[in-house]
Amino acid sequence: MKVSIIGGGGLVGSCAGFALQCGAVAREITLIDVNQELAEGQALDILHGSPSVADQIISFGSYEHIPSSDIVCITAGLRRKPDETRLDLINRNTDLFVQILADVKAAGLKPSAKVLVVSNPVDILTYVAAKRLGLPETQVLGLGTQLDSIRFCSLIAQAMKVPPTQTKALILGEHGDSMVPIWSSATVGGLPLEKYPGWTPASASQLFKRTQGSGAEVIRGKGGAGFAVGIAIRDVIEAIILNRRQILPVSSVQSGCYGIRDVALSVPTVVGSCGAIDRLEIELWPKEMQGLRNSANSLRPTLDAVLQRIGGV
Ligand code: LAC
Repeated sequence: MKVSIIGGGGLVGSCAGFALQCGAVAREITLIDVNQELAEGQALDILHGSPSVADQIISFGSYEHIPSSDIVCITAGLRRKPDETRLDLINRNTDLFVQILADVKAAGLKPSAKVLVVSNPVDILTYVAAKRLGLPETQVLGLGTQLDSIRFCSLIAQAMKVPPTQTKALILGEHGDSMVPIWSSATVGGLPLEKYPGWTPASASQLFKRTQGSGAEVIRGKGGAGFAVGIAIRDVIEAIILNRRQILPVSSVQSGCYGIRDVALSVPTVVGSCGAIDRLEIELWPKEMQGLRNSANSLRPTLDAVLQRIGGV
């Protein structure tokens, strides 16, 4: 399958390209960027590694690649400053994003194409993309809290000195300040995290706080996140390509799951070759389910403002 990455010259897009190369599952990886020279440089750098990884086509270019793409990943956009929330970005990113959607649509998507939105604020932009692209809404996903969830697991594993791949802890809701930690199902090696020796409510809240601020922490350190976001993108794209039907916390327009509708945010979602195949409404702790509804409510004013700005969907 062919994956095109819009914003492929940038940090997030190029890391996604590299992660997809290392995954060796996509057949073709195309980097699209307004800065063609940068896209060409990144593609060439990825190409050079191919003999040691996989037999993939690595290309770059512009929207002429859209009609042949099975998956289009949109990472383009301005990055936030360390003291800005993702929602603050909306004023600066909306117009650019709407133009990208128009260009993608004009280029002509395959009817079966899946679109993965990564640009921030991802839940707002996923909603706009789902409404504007003319694809079934299940084919438009946002990276959502898949990134926060792997960050969360990595920090828990580091603190508890346990294997990261055996640490399972979800974050749901907004990819932003109102994200919700799901402690009720957190496990290490299949065992309840809360029963683990050394685990305390204080350490739990500290680890969640650090996860919530992880994006900003990385921005302060190196200007912006790249590697982990690239890996999270690969998780979602490979679930689509391989029709894994993996349950991932990704963003999509909700229509009643946990009582949430007409807003995009992350709930446990079955991801496969058709995109967001299903949403799972598994009972969580009451405060977690309430947290999810609060997260939806906190997105609403921004979504309404954006819809007004762009003249509806
Ligand atoms: C972050 C960006 C990708 O959390 O939203 O690093």
